[in-house]
Amino acid sequence: MSVPIVRTLAELRAIVAAWRREGAKIAVVPTMGALHEGHLSLVRAALAQADRVIVTLFVNPKQFNSAADLAAYPRTEDSDAAKLSPLGAHMLYAPNAEEIYPDGFATNVSVAGVSEGLCGAFRPGHFDGVATVVAKLFLQTQADLAFFGEKDFQQLHVVTRMAKDLDIPIAIVPCATVREADGLAMSSRNVRLSAQDRATAPKLVHALRAAAARLKSGEAAAPVLRDAIKEIEAAGFARVEYLELRADADLAPLARADSPARLLVAAWLGDVRLIDNVEVTAAPR
Ligand code: PAF
Repeated sequence: MSVPIVRTLAELRAIVAAWRREGAKIAVVPTMGALHEGHLSLVRAALAQADRVIVTLFVNPKQFNSAADLAAYPRTEDSDAAKLSPLGAHMLYAPNAEEIYPDGFATNVSVAGVSEGLCGAFRPGHFDGVATVVAKLFLQTQADLAFFGEKDFQQLHVVTRMAKDLDIPIAIVPCATVREADGLAMSSRNVRLSAQDRATAPKLVHALRAAAARLKSGEAAAPVLRDAIKEIEAAGFARVEYLELRADADLAPLARADSPARLLVAAWLGDVRLIDNVEVTAAPR
């Protein structure tokens, strides 16, 4: 059966109300489409934990920093729906723009702290755009559970903080990053890599893993990060925007991995910006 596509809030509300009357547990998987195996793994996880799964598809203009990036974002609704149907997702909510940002829309959801630094430092306003649209999607779908990939680790922190601070009754479920066989984290942006850049791209996670191994053995972060940046640039990346060691729990900067930590990176390959992160287990004391 093909996945039903819903475009209006009124229709969404009517369906959700009927599901609620049946006592169904509802999950949402927010996406901007161009679905790949990473998204599909979120949908499978949601189907395993909820009775009804809504996948949302909205290319959110408020979270793009440049008109060119927004225009270049892949829009593949037909093939997205075709990928969701065999999984058994219950709805593809692909709202018309005015259902999300009606005329006169004037509200901005801004999450301090976890939005600052990392991607937040290089993409001004990006996390306000994410927090605003995700708050709307949570309230519109009234889901009990929401599934997010750990690849966008800072985003995961931002939406978790936002839902907690605004008392939105939804549990955020983090899911592990899905990778290609050569280690590259799956991303809708990967299709924009040239053949040569696609061959270079996995070197980003290789450098992260090598740095994580040194950090786990107790080395201080500064020299490890310096070496990893050199390695990434020598591999052919044009520029490393940031490479940082942060606390897993609240993204506080760390000088060494003496508590559960993440190594997070953003780097440019050609005109494609890639982000990734790996867990760094605390060094034994
Ligand atoms: O991760 C994404 O695809 C987007 O940031 C999200 C969460 C769907 C909000 O537009």
